[in-house]
Amino acid sequence: MTEATILVDASTDRVVVTLNRPDVRNAIDQRMVDDLHDICGVLESDPRVLLVQGSGGTFAAGADIGQLRERGRDDALRGINSGLFDRIRRLPMPTIALIEGYALGGGAELAYACDFRLGTPTTKIGNPEPGLGILAAAGATWRLAELVGEPVAKEILLAGRILDAAEAHALRLLNEVVEIVEDGDLLAAGHRWADRITASAPLAVRLTKALFHAPREAHPLIDDVAQAVLFETTEKRDRMSAFLDRRKKKP
Ligand code: COA
Repeated sequence: MTEATILVDASTDRVVVTLNRPDVRNAIDQRMVDDLHDICGVLESDPRVLLVQGSGGTFAAGADIGQLRERGRDDALRGINSGLFDRIRRLPMPTIALIEGYALGGGAELAYACDFRLGTPTTKIGNPEPGLGILAAAGATWRLAELVGEPVAKEILLAGRILDAAEAHALRLLNEVVEIVEDGDLLAAGHRWADRITASAPLAVRLTKALFHAPREAHPLIDDVAQAVLFETTEKRDRMSAFLDRRKKKP
């Protein structure tokens, strides 16, 4: 049997996925793509927060260059990484990338596809694809500008700029930089973010994420329809009653 490319730790409200090819800096090969698709399937049918981290001090050093070198036109047209990252972007509940060390190429694009990115002082993010004779075709050419704006996106995509943790944080490409005192501190910070997310009503979070990415023309009708769904939930009534009851009890 082949070794798993990812490790999965699932609980009722979240799933932690660890990219597990440390010897090749968690380079994303076809098997890892397949394994991540399997996790997407699980999260689509049972929505939970996703946390993604790398093993061995690196998030991911991009697509597996050994495989990339052999790929041709038809492989590119299959959208191997772009299809996966698009699916991750569309997952029902929020996703959090925990970026220790390098997130390069497809590794960076995986992180861009997530809703939140936490780093450490070792984090480095960039898209060196043109240096290998290809382009960053799995989201960076358009998503990066949405995240950091055109000037910085062009520095990264066209001039090989690699952002360090402080730079990425200043741009809010990293939502937080976690000082590491002991192993597990980054994951612990990820769980704190997941706790904040899961403290809210799951369906409200889920619909908010879906609306956030809906096309402009769909608003505001789609917001009203989603709100109509939420207004009919027991959870809404219970949460609002709990709020009002707490206030009534105050002297
Ligand atoms: N695909 C396949 N193998 C990779 C890889 C990738 N994207 N990134 C690293 N590896 C392999 C190396 O070939 C090396 O294998 P070896 O031990 O058999 O020689 C091993 O991982 C360790 O890499 P190394 O470069 O020695 O580690 P490092 O810590 O000095 O540097 C990086 C880490 C991430 C800076 C460096 O590996 C790198 O630049 N990787 C490629 C990044 C890239 O261009 N990504 C875009 C791909 S489209």
